[in-house]
Amino acid sequence: MKTVGFIGWRGMVGSVLIKRMIKKKDFDNINAIFFSTSQYGETINHFSIKNKFLTLENAYDFKKLYELDIILTCQGSEYTNKVYFKLRQMGWKGYWIDAASNLRTLKESLIVLDPINLKDIKQKLNLGIKTFVGCNCTVSLMLMAIGSLFKNNLIDWIFISTYQAASGAGSKFMKELILQMGYISQNISSFINNSSINIIDIERQISKYMNDPYFPKKNFHVPLINSLIPWIDKKIKNTNQTKEEWKGQFETNKILNTKKIIPIDGTCVRIPTLRSHSQSFTIKLNKNLSVNNVNNIILNSNKWVKIIPNNFDDTINYLTPSSVSGKLNIHVGRIKKLNIDKNCFSIFSVGDQLLWGASEPLRRMLKLLI
Ligand code: HSE
Repeated sequence: MKTVGFIGWRGMVGSVLIKRMIKKKDFDNINAIFFSTSQYGETINHFSIKNKFLTLENAYDFKKLYELDIILTCQGSEYTNKVYFKLRQMGWKGYWIDAASNLRTLKESLIVLDPINLKDIKQKLNLGIKTFVGCNCTVSLMLMAIGSLFKNNLIDWIFISTYQAASGAGSKFMKELILQMGYISQNISSFINNSSINIIDIERQISKYMNDPYFPKKNFHVPLINSLIPWIDKKIKNTNQTKEEWKGQFETNKILNTKKIIPIDGTCVRIPTLRSHSQSFTIKLNKNLSVNNVNNIILNSNKWVKIIPNNFDDTINYLTPSSVSGKLNIHVGRIKKLNIDKNCFSIFSVGDQLLWGASEPLRRMLKLLI
């Protein structure tokens, strides 16, 4: 049995991962050791994991880490930077599986999303690659949705507009959005049922509350509720892109191992939803395909993709963040040939960014190793 160390397993991505692992009985096949960056030495009850009482190990204890066959971390880039390189320098030959983005650009790492690159993962394992990193969430979700169009070499370029949930930014951002919802709702509850107050006056009141000094916006800096933020992550030097937008082209081409770069760009937008990311793709194909052709290519790509028929009822019920939250299904709909160009399509997709967008590819990579 392989000894696997888990770091960052109580955060948002980590806890979704552990839940899935419990459900799939993955802990039966490994010797799991749980680490903590701050609460090591403590014994905690975790009734659903094999050993009922877990004593947390120190996540910076290099001697302990060195003994592990596999390290799976959802702790974030800072931890990875502090530990990964030093551990490798010490000669550690174990497998490192990471949710953070900073190792994705290394030559020695492989970005993993096995429904897309299982063959490549197996080849790289045989070649001795030992560092496996999950994709950016929007990239994973795009590849799960329309990866078959890439794999059939049908794409000239893509422009993506994202609609990303608050949880993508982290748990404190998610909490802040809930606080923002509560703040507005508490303050306007007396107006909303008062028929003598005009709805436009209520909207003005809301706007006033959004700008008052007690409005909770420590993390987002601005209200996300009743608004949106068309900026995610830092700016990439000497470009007009944010890092989230930059990742689209880099990670997609790295994971697909493309000989000629497929141009991908977009605008990434934070919206006031709690969980699951949505994306609108404008795609230039290199062939004049029918909508039916495109539907079939997408439908046959993996078992999680569900095509949502392009009508009002199905779209409002199934092409929404809430319809996929907590599920592995990737919903793809609004598939249209555009008036602008016979080779151009637009497609809308929703998926749970904490599952296929983050934890599930790592869980499946771990399963491949054990
Ligand atoms: N970079 C992503 C975001 C995280 O900010 O939404 C993945 O959920």
